[in-house]
Amino acid sequence: MTQSRPPTESAIPRHTSGPLFTDTGLKLGVFGLNVTSAGAVTASPDRHEINWDQNVRLVRLAEDAGFEAAIPFSRWRGFEGQTNPWGTSFEPYTWASALAALTSRISIFTTSHCLTVSPVFAAKQIATIDAVSRGRIGLNVVAGWFAKELRMFNVETLDHEARYGYSEEWLDILLRLWSEDSDDFDYRGHWLTVEGGYSHPKPSQTPHPPLMNAAFSARGHQLAARYADIAFVSALDPAGVAKKVREIRELAAGFERELSVWVSASVVCADTDREAAQLLRQYSEVDADETAVRNAIEWTMGGAQMPPEQHAQLASAVAATMAGYPLVGSPETIGRQLSDLSAAGIDGVALTWMNYENGLPRFIADVLPILEREGVRRSIAGQLDQS
Ligand SMILES: Cc1cc2nc3c(=O)[nH]c(=O)nc-3n(C[C@H](O)[C@H](O)[C@H](O)COP(=O)(O)O)c2cc1C
Repeated sequence: MTQSRPPTESAIPRHTSGPLFTDTGLKLGVFGLNVTSAGAVTASPDRHEINWDQNVRLVRLAEDAGFEAAIPFSRWRGFEGQTNPWGTSFEPYTWASALAALTSRISIFTTSHCLTVSPVFAAKQIATIDAVSRGRIGLNVVAGWFAKELRMFNVETLDHEARYGYSEEWLDILLRLWSEDSDDFDYRGHWLTVEGGYSHPKPSQTPHPPLMNAAFSARGHQLAARYADIAFVSALDPAGVAKKVREIRELAAGFERELSVWVSASVVCADTDREAAQLLRQYSEVDADETAVRNAIEWTMGGAQMPPEQHAQLASAVAATMAGYPLVGSPETIGRQLSDLSAAGIDGVALTWMNYENGLPRFIADVLPILEREGVRRSIAGQLDQS
């Protein structure tokens, strides 16, 4: 048996292959399709409801248009109120495996809470989906924040710092299970212990399936800088985004690593900026689900006290875009916003909509050609067509 060994940051190689890491410009991910009301907390009759056929159809549509990734949420309950947003969702490992079998080019992610899944089970599930997808699975790894849902797993008591410590050990074990040929390693961490660690088959991707981590806190960014191939930043404008991109890249450089930096963003597109603003106002203010918005703020901010004006600002961001970067306007405006994000150093965007059934086809028809015309991205679909 080999002994447990301390993690060495430089031993965690950066993922460099696959469509997510090409030099074709801004990458696009369809995000949260597996969860009701993923992109906006609203009682609008048009809000996102899920069914399997729709999920398959829309992921295939994204794939055909050249999107690089489909990324699910891992969610176990919702924000209650009138419409219980996020309350109904497909489980992300099984979702990813089925979609892997039904697509051929797009990267399919699963999203996993470390606290709710054994890394031994996760390593084999992902290696299995790697085989099903022929090397297209990625992992969005989540430390968890939603006490009421973690309580169902009896693991809600760890504080923020402890959840990240736990997650790092979870990732150390996962990476060893994926990479070590030794059939028997022991791991003894503060939180996790594995005796005789063993997992076959190994994933086919080199050095391993890409790891995404979407934390925003300083502690979360520490984990992302050490382990992730794709990290996220959040800011209100391109200048703020550029600053955070620089900071997280510097953090990763401290671990002798490089990473891709993405933002999550929500699209509200109409013929004109004015119509997009009206649409946004209709679903986030006129058709508001105020109790669910209040719960979302209370439960995501851990009950933090904040001045009323800050609360109102946040409530409006949660209702409108679930606090993602707002891409609101005509196709030209949204194209410009995405171009600005790309110029700020952003490598990819994980996109949500209030209504994916209308929003995704419209984005593909009207915004994508602008991104390609302006050289913000070249799609994989385009590349294949030319070859
Ligand atoms: C793109 C993206 C995807 C996320 N996916 C999930 C998810 O599926 N489930 C979840 O519980 N949290 C998810 N989160 C939340 C983060 O992983 C993280 O828990 C949150 O930002 C709070 O952590 P922090 O306090 O370290 O910033 C996501 C965040 C972003 C931006």
